[in-house]
Amino acid sequence: MYKQLQQRGMDSPPVNVGTLRDMKQAREPIACLTAYDASFAELVDLAGADVVLVGDSLGMVIQGLDTTVPVTVADMVYHSRCVARGLRRAFLMVDMPFMSYTSPSQALDNAIRLMQEGGAKMIKLEVGEGQAAIVEHLAKQDIPVCAHLGLKPQSVHKIGGFKVQGRDEQAAQRMVQEARTLEAAGADAVLMECVPNAVGAAIRDAVKVPVIGIGAGPGVDGQILVLYDVLGITQGRMPRFVKNFMKGRDAPLDALRAYVRDVKERNYPGEEHCFTA
Ligand code: KIV
Repeated sequence: MYKQLQQRGMDSPPVNVGTLRDMKQAREPIACLTAYDASFAELVDLAGADVVLVGDSLGMVIQGLDTTVPVTVADMVYHSRCVARGLRRAFLMVDMPFMSYTSPSQALDNAIRLMQEGGAKMIKLEVGEGQAAIVEHLAKQDIPVCAHLGLKPQSVHKIGGFKVQGRDEQAAQRMVQEARTLEAAGADAVLMECVPNAVGAAIRDAVKVPVIGIGAGPGVDGQILVLYDVLGITQGRMPRFVKNFMKGRDAPLDALRAYVRDVKERNYPGEEHCFTA
């Protein structure tokens, strides 16, 4: 009866929260990528990514928006359902979009949709200490939660742009405390976006749950990038942490395999992809 979740005729069983915790303990880097449709999800899975995120970055890379703010729960459910069909081994994490978790009960209703209609196995929220009660409410219902800290793109209009966070000592310490509080509230993972290397590493050491970074340096437990950036599809000025793995390669699957290999072998991120305080 339990075989579906364990082995679907594959060499290794599907990734789950326990796998991610074990990887942190074993210091095996966790390779993560975003995906938004079934075909790319299949490639990302084949390439060996451990976690696939249906990010609300789909607002920018799929819908052509300037920010993630207009993305809706219906958008996330649709893309999540598409991605879920393409996955075999990778663990599916899905973003809760802007204003879909303003109260514990609203968050629970929307998380249920993402899991039941979208096939999500973990949901990600851009949170701080002020939202610990929301994380706690979800965790109490056994909903796996990833707390997104550092640069929170849904807050872009409040922050005044996409900026590196935690550069001064006080802000860095506040972030470490936030990570601890959210872990205590029941978060099963933390995602750090755009912080100096030292902050990423400090948070990695401060919590027992896996810490995935994007622009958070090499000292975290795993790395994530936006698929369209890795494949060189995104045009224009790129954030410092982006690396185009299509350079010198003809096939997307080769590029994705190179990304996973570089994360696993700690060749990515290099110094040129990192922020210092
Ligand atoms: O929406 C997204 O793709 C994300 C990544 C930047 C981690 O949250």
